[in-house]
Amino acid sequence: MITEVKTIGGYIELQLPQGNEHYPALIKLNTGRNALEYLLRIKKYTLVHLPYFTCEVLLEPLCRLNIPYRFYHIDSMLNPILDFEPGPTECLVYTNYFGLMQETVKKLSGQLNNLIIDNAQAFFSPPLEGIDTFYSCRKFFGVPDGAYLQANSNTRLSLDHDISIGRFSHLIKSIDLNIESAYPDYIRNNVCLVDNSIKKMSLLTQKILSGIDYEDCEKIRNANFKHLHKALSEKNELTIEVTDLKAPMVYPLLINNPELKQKLIDRKVFVATYWPNVLDWTTEDMLEHYLCKNIIPLPIDHRYHISDMDYMIDILKQLL
Ligand SMILES: Cc1ncc(COP(=O)(O)O)c(C=O)c1O
Repeated sequence: MITEVKTIGGYIELQLPQGNEHYPALIKLNTGRNALEYLLRIKKYTLVHLPYFTCEVLLEPLCRLNIPYRFYHIDSMLNPILDFEPGPTECLVYTNYFGLMQETVKKLSGQLNNLIIDNAQAFFSPPLEGIDTFYSCRKFFGVPDGAYLQANSNTRLSLDHDISIGRFSHLIKSIDLNIESAYPDYIRNNVCLVDNSIKKMSLLTQKILSGIDYEDCEKIRNANFKHLHKALSEKNELTIEVTDLKAPMVYPLLINNPELKQKLIDRKVFVATYWPNVLDWTTEDMLEHYLCKNIIPLPIDHRYHISDMDYMIDILKQLL
């Protein structure tokens, strides 16, 4: 075994704030999809029930491990339609949509045995005791990768650390240039995550995650979300409960207006589509197809203030 000798001196390295991670006790991995792989490997499920309305990268571990999957539907409240019963060696993955579905997660945890909660969109929704739950960090913070996993098992895989440095350019380029110039790098770095094997979280990602003021991020997200909700809830076809917010990922505005998204993008309000693959997986008569086409996920993160929310509301008023 090679033991590294402690170094002293040399050049001054990038200085990052020293604090604590939000989930220090959870298993630290390189990506959310690989956190799912971790669970599938240790639990040895024979079939996975996945929602039609989710991200296609979740299929990567299933293909790698050669585990069959079956899609299930959700209803207009984004709750799963459980018109089937998963067998004893099967599991059901439920996505905590936009970080707004903690009540459904609680309900499901009492209802199903082999439940996996995908909290990739719900970083601030704490894991429920005994429930397999995973998180993806890059949807919430300026990191290229990183995931946390709560696994209800004592089995642990022995893994090497990932190295993130080659996937970092968009995060620093956007500071020196701007977010649009760095966008091609973002796309390229996302592609690097495809079929990246399961590893421990990189030390670089962990270091950055240790320097974040999570309380502040949480507060800002909740305040921005409430502000948008107040202004837009009457137009929103989604029913959203705002009493116990868990710092959601975005404000999902559902409006039957498939052109609205492009109009916002033209005005430089960059909104994503969750998830383009859903259009391939579904037909036009399915709710999931409608959700994918018509949900506008408005940004509410720590970069923005109430004045930015008002700016978006003004643009929306002009467009609607
Ligand atoms: C709902 C959902 N789950 C899981 C993932 C996978 O996370 P990661 O990119 O960290 O593998 C994503 C996005 O990539 C996602 O949108």
